[in-house]
Amino acid sequence: MPTPTYPRKPLARGGAAVPPLALGSWNTWDRMPSDEAVALIRRAVELDAGFFDVAYYNMGPHAENSRTDILFGEALRASGVARDDIVLCGKLWLWDWPGQPFRGQLLESLQRAGLDRFDTLVVGDYMVAPDMARLVDDVNALIDEGLVGSWGINNWRIEHTREALDVAARRGLAGPSFAQLKYGIARRAMAEGDAYGPLFADGTLTLQASDVFEGGILATGRVPQRKIGADVGGVREQIAALFPEVARVADGFGVTPAALGIAFCLSNPATANVLFGASRLAQLEQNHAALALALARDHGAEVRAAVADCAVDREVRADGVW
Ligand SMILES: NC(=O)c1ccc[n+]([C@@H]2O[C@H](COP(=O)([O-])OP(=O)(O)OC[C@H]3O[C@@H](n4cnc5c(N)ncnc54)[C@H](OP(=O)(O)O)[C@@H]3O)[C@@H](O)[C@H]2O)c1
Repeated sequence: MPTPTYPRKPLARGGAAVPPLALGSWNTWDRMPSDEAVALIRRAVELDAGFFDVAYYNMGPHAENSRTDILFGEALRASGVARDDIVLCGKLWLWDWPGQPFRGQLLESLQRAGLDRFDTLVVGDYMVAPDMARLVDDVNALIDEGLVGSWGINNWRIEHTREALDVAARRGLAGPSFAQLKYGIARRAMAEGDAYGPLFADGTLTLQASDVFEGGILATGRVPQRKIGADVGGVREQIAALFPEVARVADGFGVTPAALGIAFCLSNPATANVLFGASRLAQLEQNHAALALALARDHGAEVRAAVADCAVDREVRADGVW
């Protein structure tokens, strides 16, 4: 495996250190030719981004029946990349749980991608508060079975994240070790707010930044036609309007807006990993990896100062209620 160029942190307390960058599967592998997917996987490992989020988009608001996970699995096998050189993160949905049990969801997801285990997984968001004791038990059963090593949560309300941590601690089980939250130059309420803040500060949780370009808006200034992540707080128009300023600041650092966005996320000490979508090799190659990592490593404080006024979600609640 290539020598890391950026300090790695564990995603789970006491766990193995992970690459600082991760590639998402939503609307990515199914939007590129297969040889490009193979090349992207190989290059990601070289560029400190050998961490892949693998989800089967088949439920609730994501009943898209996408083949992106299958295509990722095929490309991964064709890439020849060693399993031990990458981190694979699965996804469990709560939309139809417990009607659709976690074990069935996970086995189906593994089977589709041709995998035998995930290193970690994210338990998704929900409409109705889940039965937390059962949820923690069910995830721990997967850990006991060796199907996954650890787990994290996605945009959960802080009260439910704390409940999961408490239930797990009381029972001597594994609680969530990281929070995948929407986070970027323009959207900071949950990741930097006072609800999750104490859990990041005391090391209970690490942060996985996601949706960092707001589906691409903060990389290109254009709002994509395809479906992108939920607009919590209805601030997307303001985010799009912010792009010229983000581009101006990025230019001042001699990087692309996308690289600036990643560097911003990495410069938060709570961040263990930045998850973003790349639908072409060039997006990783030329724009993100090397530039963003060097910028965060050498000029993190300056980046934060330069975009200090760019948060547009100050009215959005930090506790995840919306
Ligand atoms: N926690 C949450 O609420 C949440 C929400 C959404 C997604 N996610 C997770 O986060 C992952 C990433 O999310 P996402 O892909 O929807 O959003 P994203 O990372 O904010 O945006 C990805 C898109 O930005 C564009 N882009 C990326 N790099 C670029 C570059 N260097 N130059 C120009 N354009 C660039 C590409 O658009 P084009 O492909 O159009 O070129 C790419 O598909 C998903 O796979 C999912 O796992 C989480």
